[in-house]
Amino acid sequence: MIPLASKAAPAQSPFTPEQQKRFDEGFERAVAKYPPDRRRAALLPALHLVQDELGWLPEPAMAYVGHLLDIPPVRVREVATFYTMYRLRPVGRHHIGVCNSVSCWAMGSEKIIRLCAERLGIRPGETTRDGQFSLEEVSCLAACGNAPAVLVNNFEYVESVTPESVDGLINRLRELPGKTMAPGPMPRLPDPNHHDERQDSPQATGSLGQPATTTAAEAGSTERKP
Ligand code: FES
Repeated sequence: MIPLASKAAPAQSPFTPEQQKRFDEGFERAVAKYPPDRRRAALLPALHLVQDELGWLPEPAMAYVGHLLDIPPVRVREVATFYTMYRLRPVGRHHIGVCNSVSCWAMGSEKIIRLCAERLGIRPGETTRDGQFSLEEVSCLAACGNAPAVLVNNFEYVESVTPESVDGLINRLRELPGKTMAPGPMPRLPDPNHHDERQDSPQATGSLGQPATTTAAEAGSTERKP
């Protein structure tokens, strides 16, 4: 863990060259939306961009964003820990977020969550021991008209999910490579009595896996070029 410095300081990029290119393009667009003396306002989309690339927000990445926007790392962390859509721990290569707000709940999302949990052997908030899947109960995905809705890997909406389609969804994801997670402090100790570990903090919709097929409506953060 890096010290949570109270002053912005040069920080190393956490990205590979390819990730850096995508991040830079998105960052430029995000910053351009604000007056030059208000570029710090681009912090939220910048954090989304990091999460889109790395899957979560490692502290060195927060320091990097702070450096770019001249915001002390401790302030970046304050923001990242306030909003639940930012992940402070790695999740699975495939992150399944099942909406459990009112429309989806009325249309049977609890059963979908239960089935996902059974099939994956984890509870919402947990990641499978092999790191392939994580499951989360999320709030309204703005797809209420086709409830129950699921958001996979932050980009792909799966709507009108039925108990019968859950297996197909999981099997399809198993075939997909997903993305390599940014290294993180996530011990995976074998424990015969507990399949998986619970994430300490509330986690939000995923950002790993395949490129966008449907873009989540998260302020200027998730646009990807084809
Ligand atoms: S209640 Fe589930 S998408 Fe709106």
